[in-house]
Amino acid sequence: MAELNGIYKCNVCGNTVSVIEAGAGTLVCCGEEMELLKPKTKEQEGNEKHVPVVEISKGNVKVKVGSVPHPMEEKHYIGLIQLIRNGDVVAGKRLKPGDKPEASFCLDSTEGIKARIWCNIHGVWIN
Ligand SMILES: [Fe+2]
Repeated sequence: MAELNGIYKCNVCGNTVSVIEAGAGTLVCCGEEMELLKPKTKEQEGNEKHVPVVEISKGNVKVKVGSVPHPMEEKHYIGLIQLIRNGDVVAGKRLKPGDKPEASFCLDSTEGIKARIWCNIHGVWIN
């Protein structure tokens, strides 16, 4: 069964998907089961280029990827920044090479907000 809001990757072709609605089936691509990219944290790997840095001021949430800015090159970049509350995605922004590895959002409530990011090489990270 797929995990709701989970990000899965095909380790053959690189297709990466996010689950909007979870069904009973297994996600398969290129004839193989897709890998669930489990969010990594500072505690697990301590990589300062991936752990999102979140600044909250009133209803504004600014997310920077890394205390040292992550590269945004053609072959290595941050492709997605999402805000998560209680496991649900409440906001998100797609990024592409050349963009700054950051995003700003305006929310009605910032209670319990966390940031999740996806690096095309190093996977999913959460603060
Ligand atoms: Fe990376």
